[in-house]
Amino acid sequence: MNSEQSTQSATPETMTRLERVKANTREDHQQIDNMVMAMKPFDSRANYVRFLQLQHAFHRVMKPLYEAEDINQLVPGLASRSRYDDVCADLADLGAAGREGAQGMAAPQKGAGRMGWLYVCEGSNLGAAFLLKAAARIGLDDSFGARHLRAHSDGRGKHWREFVAQLNALELDAAEEEAFMKGAHDAFDFFHSLLLDDQRLAA
Ligand code: HEM
Repeated sequence: MNSEQSTQSATPETMTRLERVKANTREDHQQIDNMVMAMKPFDSRANYVRFLQLQHAFHRVMKPLYEAEDINQLVPGLASRSRYDDVCADLADLGAAGREGAQGMAAPQKGAGRMGWLYVCEGSNLGAAFLLKAAARIGLDDSFGARHLRAHSDGRGKHWREFVAQLNALELDAAEEEAFMKGAHDAFDFFHSLLLDDQRLAA
């Protein structure tokens, strides 16, 4: 059974944590997906740099969460999965800089909400396969300009499946479960606020 079918036939009680957060944030994701595509990030390098600046602001906020010691004990190897350094290298490849001041909402620095933010950031690597292909249209690839969209050396799927298993196995009480779900919504909201800032700057 694929995840789409299981989401439809399952009730919230029988769904895995991943299935619940995916179902709960479907609209958040669709909105972000639509807004990013409306920027036409792969029509020109200038447009792509705007997209990179959003990614820079997002991954900068995420970096301390990837490095948190307590989460790394639960999710071994997490610290090495941050894309922030790759985003910085992509900006440098294109002679561009991140936008200062684009701090927006702060990510939580403790508690289960951080796992919601990490779900959003790790999940964004799945869609990145599609974005990396599109980046080839403007001469970028995983060694120049689009490094942060690259797959891990042992494959995109393997890391995602591991992360999902780790996420599903976490023991959370009701309050932590709520904080986790709120964290996922907040992370999408943060990306949304970055997109709105970008629209204002471009207007
Ligand atoms: C135009 C931009 C985007 C497109 C086209 C896109 C596309 C996709 C696609 C096709 C998947 C499913 C991949 C699969 O199941 O194999 C996916 C998953 C996901 N994307 Fe995006 N994405 C975009 C931007 C983003 C951004 C900016 C974020 C985060 C801020 C994000 C967060 C996620 C998450 C969390 C998942 C995992 C969903 C799940 O299976 O639980 N995406 N995306």
